[in-house]
Amino acid sequence: MKIYVTKDKKEMNQKAAEIILERIQEKPDMTLGLATGGTPEGTYDDLVNDHQQHGTSYQNITTFNLDEYVGLPSDDPNSYLSYMREHLFNHIDIPPEQTNLPNGTAEDLEAECDEYETRIHGHGGVDLQLLGIGENGHIGFNEPGTSFGSKTHIVELAESTREANARFFDSKDDVPTHAITMGIQTILKAKEIVLMISGERKQEALLRLLHGGVSEDFPASALKEHPNLTVIADEAAIENKS
Ligand code: F6R
Repeated sequence: MKIYVTKDKKEMNQKAAEIILERIQEKPDMTLGLATGGTPEGTYDDLVNDHQQHGTSYQNITTFNLDEYVGLPSDDPNSYLSYMREHLFNHIDIPPEQTNLPNGTAEDLEAECDEYETRIHGHGGVDLQLLGIGENGHIGFNEPGTSFGSKTHIVELAESTREANARFFDSKDDVPTHAITMGIQTILKAKEIVLMISGERKQEALLRLLHGGVSEDFPASALKEHPNLTVIADEAAIENKS
């Protein structure tokens, strides 16, 4: 595990963008695994700025997002497809057909999970997976207790996750109860993983990731066994024990 500690969230986001841009230069047709939420927003801003200023092209890039809510139409402002369009896809030159998210309104959700998993591997797998982390250690929407052998599946969101995500909705009741997420095994198959952790609320999760054991009670601990993991944490996420 490689760890970078940055002064603040902005620098954390920049560092992640730098790594992504380096990889795109090395492999312009790479497959990027993407996350949503508050953590990567600044990284997407940096990628968009870079695209506008330096013309980095995404014409040959393919993306796979980690997850999508169940039941939200894709044009709902809170769907993760809308998030990705707003923060990244609409501002770079990636062909829409090369962007992939699970379809949370599929008639047969189980079949959609299997198809998404097959699509990822059929494409040759993810080269670099960007991740955030939940306060309870979830990665993707793999909540505590999820098997490390899990593939893309339907999850019931933990109450704490729905509360944490309520800030994007009018109220907690509007937060969907279920989502489709890549499984932990799916995530671990990425050739490289970049995990960003920012803010005081994530201190405990970071402490547990760095110093705790590997256990299904804490999904992010699965990452400790990945051969190419980079953690980028801002100072606020580092617990101040004084
Ligand atoms: C998002 C995702 C989640 C978030 C996590 C942290 O696609 O899969 O695991 O990374 O919930 O969310 P934020 O960044 O909003 O604190």
